[in-house]
Amino acid sequence: MKNLQKIAVLTSGGDSPGMNAAIRAVVRNAAYSGLVCDGIYRGYQGLIENDFIELGPRDVKNTINRGGTFLKSARSKDFMTKEGRQKAFNNLQARRIDALVVIGGDGTFTGASVFSSEFDIPVIGIPGTIDNDINGTDYTIGYDTALNTVVEAIDKIRDTASSHDRLFLVEVMGRDAGDIALNSGIGAGAEEILIPEENLGIERLIESLEKSRKTGKTSSIVVVSEGDQIGKNITNVADSIQTQLPDYEVKVTVLGHIQRGGSPSCFDRVLASRLGVGAVDALIEGKSNIMVGISHKKIVHVPFETAINVKKIIDTDLIRVADIVST
Ligand code: F6P
Repeated sequence: MKNLQKIAVLTSGGDSPGMNAAIRAVVRNAAYSGLVCDGIYRGYQGLIENDFIELGPRDVKNTINRGGTFLKSARSKDFMTKEGRQKAFNNLQARRIDALVVIGGDGTFTGASVFSSEFDIPVIGIPGTIDNDINGTDYTIGYDTALNTVVEAIDKIRDTASSHDRLFLVEVMGRDAGDIALNSGIGAGAEEILIPEENLGIERLIESLEKSRKTGKTSSIVVVSEGDQIGKNITNVADSIQTQLPDYEVKVTVLGHIQRGGSPSCFDRVLASRLGVGAVDALIEGKSNIMVGISHKKIVHVPFETAINVKKIIDTDLIRVADIVST
């Protein structure tokens, strides 16, 4: 690889709490290591539209505690075209940028992988998404904060559920991964947790709710992952329960984008700081086309191919724990 002097960093895809802390760590490790660092606004779209800003250590002050991403984010359709990627590469060359750090999820890494195979530029990925659905890293940036947000919201919903003897279905994000639902469900004491990785079927759900009503439960919380396929959507599930268990008053709450916002937890700030520093270290070591992740508390390098194309396995022990603690 040619001599590394200048790098650039961007955030892409859905924002997640802790992305700012990751940018900050990239910028500061760049300065610490004698490199110049540019920020790119609006992800790959800003890269194509030449929307850069030079960032020094003081430019990222007071960002560690802020949710969202001050570099802004986008899901760029233009970057999916060869023409768009060519423009992006031309802009990097014109600014003499030697390497790129991209912070985002699987869509971001897919774009990065194609880009670095087409052009001679090292790219390192940092996993930033609330979904925790990237293979090869135990945690993604923003997941812990989102879990805490969900648990706080469900604690509040529980007050009404128990005061009115109601059954609440609470839909959480996660795209086609059930990590948010499973972990927040255990943490919030949910009666049942519906995740895409485990299709229990509506009959089993109703049987279980009926049984727990008979054993003295007067209210219930069911956490439903947005990717779960039972009934196709949460309203259909609610309708089925209401018809078959008429004694319950069934309510639906969709938590939505509240889960993506807010000040990052300490866990996410530390994770983002480690991964941001790790990404620049990896570039200095001459690495490319990899994600910097965390596994068993250690920084690991995972090829983009493995991070994107291998499905992350849900922890079946957690499913067992959820079943036991909800009896
Ligand atoms: O990937 C993060 C995520 O919040 C998913 O959980 C969700 O399915 C999706 O993004 C929502 O995307 P948008 O904000 O574009 O509607």
